Amino acid sequence: MAGPAGVGHTENWSSRFAFVMAAVGSAVGLGNLVRFPAEAGSNGGGAFVIFYIFCVVMIGLPVLLAETVIGRYGKSSAVDSVSKLARASGRSPLWAAAAFVGMLGAYFILTYYSVIGGWVVYFAGVFVDDMASAVSGGTLTQGAFAGQNSEDVASMLGTLHGNAEMMVAMHALFMAITIFVVARGVTGGIEKVAVWLMPTFFLLFLAITVYSMLTGAFTETLSFLFSFEPSRLLDPNVMLSALGQALFSLSLGSALMITYGAYASADTDLAKTSGMIGSADTSVAIIAGLAIFPIVFAAMTPDLLAEVLSGEKPVPQGLGLMFSTLPVSFQTMPGGSLIGLLFFVMVFFAALTSSVALLEASVSWASRQFNISRSMTAVVLGLMAFAIGAVASFSFNTLADFKPLPFGIFDGLELFSILDTVTGKIMLPVSALLVAIFVGWIADKRIINAQNGLSGGTLALWRFLIAWLCPLVIAAILFFGLFPNLI
Ligand code: PHE
Repeated sequence: MAGPAGVGHTENWSSRFAFVMAAVGSAVGLGNLVRFPAEAGSNGGGAFVIFYIFCVVMIGLPVLLAETVIGRYGKSSAVDSVSKLARASGRSPLWAAAAFVGMLGAYFILTYYSVIGGWVVYFAGVFVDDMASAVSGGTLTQGAFAGQNSEDVASMLGTLHGNAEMMVAMHALFMAITIFVVARGVTGGIEKVAVWLMPTFFLLFLAITVYSMLTGAFTETLSFLFSFEPSRLLDPNVMLSALGQALFSLSLGSALMITYGAYASADTDLAKTSGMIGSADTSVAIIAGLAIFPIVFAAMTPDLLAEVLSGEKPVPQGLGLMFSTLPVSFQTMPGGSLIGLLFFVMVFFAALTSSVALLEASVSWASRQFNISRSMTAVVLGLMAFAIGAVASFSFNTLADFKPLPFGIFDGLELFSILDTVTGKIMLPVSALLVAIFVGWIADKRIINAQNGLSGGTLALWRFLIAWLCPLVIAAILFFGLFPNLI
């Protein structure tokens, strides 16, 4: 279909490296650095981690391959790719619902993701400020934070929350950068950002992890992350959280890997690439835990740390871990101002390559569907997502008591957490479930097998996982996670 400039999906990644960097860039983000440590912390450490790894290997990897296969076959937006494959298989194009749910999920994630992206920019700014005073004061540990006690630093997040304008402004800035990159296109924007930012991210990540292991409470972290109460292993809520986190982190069930797969060239080995994306993402999540907790634990008093490790006291929960506990903890470390700055710059790089992906999933569909240029579509969809995110960000101040859905897993949640829960615990799992059923049972096996690059035993194994294990496990976890009182 011909259309105005920028419409259509003829663009390809310029190299396999670009594809891998863009896909890894989409996968590695706030999900690994913020959501994973927070979920692990609030779901019993080791039990969550073990089930998370199970979900990545048994569900994530097979679905990742399935999604990239659909994308490369369809060479279009995620929704169109699924319907094209359905038609070619003599099935109803309504199967495109699998991608549509995911695309909506990605869009809703973008709304609040960008709010947190804004916090990251804000904290990077605070540490720049801190560094500047540190340099003028001739020391690296005593910058703008010097003379403040840890409550003051911890309350920085509180101050930001109380300052709705600042929060919205930072969210606007983060969204504007995201829109800018997506508007410039696949090779001109998304891929350029990924091939520069991701290698830099990995260097920073490595440096900070080594620093944290050498200076922080590393052995305590190991026992926290890898020991657990066996009873929690079968807790349906822990299981649903781990499944949701695995999909979120690998950018699955969000139409994204179908979208990015569409830009992959015919000679890309999708199975091998999926393996690389999956292992890079999972290593970053686990290593992020090994980088963050040693710093947080090192800053605790020995008594508090003992209580946390024995499970008497919870670890700092949720977003407070990264945006309140961690900045305080950096303050107590040698060279903390510099490390803090590098840390938030690194998180920004990871977050940007993911938010770009989150926007791209719907831009690639809408620009084709409504025949509008890519840049116009990116601006319109980005601004709408900005508006929804801005309203959700009031959950941290004026709308803190607005808890509109007092039932089930939504009980007691404000708008912001509702967006995260509905996407992570419902939309992504539902989309991944439909993708697995579609590829496992509905789509023509010959088309699928011609794309996936597998043969012999690995092909049989993948077919078993995608047709049987993935649908059954996702359906069971969804069901019992949503209706825990049924067991
Ligand atoms: N995987 C990203 C992260 O971990 C989030 C994301 C989800 C990006 C879905 C794109 C699609 O932060």
